[in-house]
Amino acid sequence: MAMEPSRLNQNPGQQGQAVQTAMGGQNAINEAAVQQQPPAGSPTDLVHRKVDAHQFLDTNADLKINVEHLNFFYGAKQALYDVAIPIRERQVTALIGPSGCGKSTFLRTLNRMNDLIPGSRTEGRAVMDGQNIYDKNQDVVLLRQRVGMVFQRPNPFPKSIFENVAYGLHVQGKSGKQVKDTVEESLHDAALWDEVKDRLNSSALGLSGGQQQRLCIARALAVKPDVLLMDEPASALDPIATLKIEELINELVKDYTIVIVTHNMQQASRVSQYTGFFLSGKLIEIGPTVDLFEHPKRKETEDYISGRFG
Ligand SMILES: Nc1ncnc2c1ncn2[C@@H]1O[C@H](COP(=O)(O)OP(=O)(O)O)[C@@H](O)[C@H]1O
Ligand SMILES: [Mg+2]
Repeated sequence: MAMEPSRLNQNPGQQGQAVQTAMGGQNAINEAAVQQQPPAGSPTDLVHRKVDAHQFLDTNADLKINVEHLNFFYGAKQALYDVAIPIRERQVTALIGPSGCGKSTFLRTLNRMNDLIPGSRTEGRAVMDGQNIYDKNQDVVLLRQRVGMVFQRPNPFPKSIFENVAYGLHVQGKSGKQVKDTVEESLHDAALWDEVKDRLNSSALGLSGGQQQRLCIARALAVKPDVLLMDEPASALDPIATLKIEELINELVKDYTIVIVTHNMQQASRVSQYTGFFLSGKLIEIGPTVDLFEHPKRKETEDYISGRFG
C-alpha cells in the first residue's frame, strides 16, 4: 500500500537528503534493512519503518473547519485572498508553497492568533462545529484551547518538564491527581513519557530539541484540543528527531484534526492525507495528498512540485 509519489523520489528536498546523508545514502538504508532488523526504537529502526500516511485517508471524513472567502490584511497589505479550505476531521491537512505565500498567516487565522497583530484585519468565515470562529461572541481563550498550536522553534517555558505540561491545566483551575494523571497521559500521547518519566522535575530546557518539541506537543494536548496547528514543527530538528515527530503525527491523526505547514514536500507526503498548495496568498489547489502530487489539476501546482520554482 506504500504510495510514495514517484515524483517526490526524483526530487528529494533538504530533509530527504539530510536523512540519506545521515544514514549513509538510500542504498545503505535498503541494504541494512535486508540484512538485519535493527533494534526497535533505534535510529535505523525509525528510518526503516516506512510511515504510510495514505492508509489513513478518509474521503468521507466530516468537515471540522470550513474556511470560506477568507481575506487577511496586515494593515494595507493583503496577505490572503479569498481562501477556501475544507479541513477534515481526524485527517492531517498539509499546507505547502513557497516562502512568503501566506501559509503561517493562514494557520494563525484558525485560532485567531493574528488578532494579536496590531492593524491586522480578517474577513470571511471559518466555521468550526457550526460556529464561525470570527463570531463576535466567540470566546477566544476557549477557541485557543480547542485549537492548539505548535511552533517552528520548540518554546518550552523555563520550568520543569511536569510544569510545562501542567501549565494550561493550572490555568483552567485544575490541581492534584487530575493534573498528575493528565500530564502523564499527555506525555504518553506525545511519545515522550518513557524518556522523561524519571526526571519530571528537571528543567525542560535540558531536553534535546526533538524532546522539547514533543514536550510542546504534550503541553498542547494536555488541555484536550480538537485541532492541532503545527507550523513547520520539525524544521529546526535533526533528521531522526524529525522522523519521530512525523511518526507521532501518524499516531495523533487517529484522535485529532491536524493542520501542518511544511516547506518539505516529502514530509507532506509522509504525514498528511490532504494537501493544499498556496501561492501568493491564494489557495491554488487542495485535494488528497497522493492526487495532488501525482495528478495536480493546476499548472502552478505542477510547476511547484516538479521544482520549477520555490
Ligand atoms: N507581522 C507581519 N506584518 C506584516 N507582514 C507580514 C507579517 N507576517 C507576515 N507578513 C507578510 O505576509 C506574507 C505571508 O507571510 P507568511 O504567512 O509568514 O508566509 P509563509 O508562512 O508562507 O512563509 C509575506 O509577504 C510576509 O512578509
Ligand atoms: Mg511560515
